[in-house]
Amino acid sequence: MDKLQGIDAAIRRFYGQEAVSEELIEAILYSVDAGGKRIRPLILLELLEGFGLDLTEAHFDVAAALEMIHTGSLIHDDLPAMDDDDYRRGRLTSHKKFDEATAILAGDSLFLDPFGLLAGADLPAPVLVDLIQALSAASGTFGMVGGQVLDMKGEGQDLNLDQLSAIHANKTGRLLAFPFEAAGIIAQQSLEVRNQLFEAGQLVGHAFQVRDDILDLTASFEEIGKTPMKDLFAEKSTYPSLLGLEKSYEILEESLHQAQAIFKDVQQQVGFDPEKILEMLERLRLYA
Ligand code: IPE
Ligand code: IPE
Ligand code: MG
Ligand code: MG
Ligand code: MG
Repeated sequence: MDKLQGIDAAIRRFYGQEAVSEELIEAILYSVDAGGKRIRPLILLELLEGFGLDLTEAHFDVAAALEMIHTGSLIHDDLPAMDDDDYRRGRLTSHKKFDEATAILAGDSLFLDPFGLLAGADLPAPVLVDLIQALSAASGTFGMVGGQVLDMKGEGQDLNLDQLSAIHANKTGRLLAFPFEAAGIIAQQSLEVRNQLFEAGQLVGHAFQVRDDILDLTASFEEIGKTPMKDLFAEKSTYPSLLGLEKSYEILEESLHQAQAIFKDVQQQVGFDPEKILEMLERLRLYA
């Protein structure tokens, strides 16, 4: 099955249950269907195949759960009380299309539903428990939400590089590292390999937010589907604002390079096929 279609089908299967509120499901699917890049779930599925697994419906459920949390984080990130954005994924943001209450509640659903979806996936119970724990840690107080608080509190402040790096590691890095962690859990790899995967995931997560900061300054609305130059107006500290664009490109390159080196190492240790993940990471490069 095509991976993108499989991810969307898993989300639709979940929301195909009898609705309590049709309006809520409409708002959820409006944001889910807006055409995100699906990089997090695609990383998971490519890694699982790299470990030699044949993809099953359960793997698509895990991928869907991750994309749901990510989409919820975008809906909340765009709210007037947070980044106050009018466009996301090339369309009006949820609170602009519907209203603020609906957007808040659609985000709430997208944070809570994935845990039920995961718990029902057809995988061994110990694997599911580990996945649920890892997804909660990556998303909540000790991950994405914690990082979002640091990001909001940092607006208008002169942050140093350590502070900014802590924001990026948490608001974006942890959820981007989850597919790497999850692949190690599902493919039942040794603790050593799982640690290496997590380390690669953190590097990619860091690279991804540095890239997002660069694109905020350099890309058009058509390219990113959201209003450019928002970080400047919100007085956010970013890699380009602290270090300049050229150094930011270098950091992006270096983080991706280090992550790629880890995969070559894992290949030698456990016969993992790194071709697809290396290709995906290659596509994250932005040549200055
Ligand atoms: C945007 O994430 C928010 C960040 C964490 C940088 P993506 O760039 O993955 O957004 P979509 O899912 O493709 O819309
Ligand atoms: C994304 O950071 C963090 C999230 C957890 C969604 P940004 O605020 O930079 O993301 P964009 O630029 O709005 O997509
Ligand atoms: Mg934000
Ligand atoms: Mg934002
Ligand atoms: Mg951004």
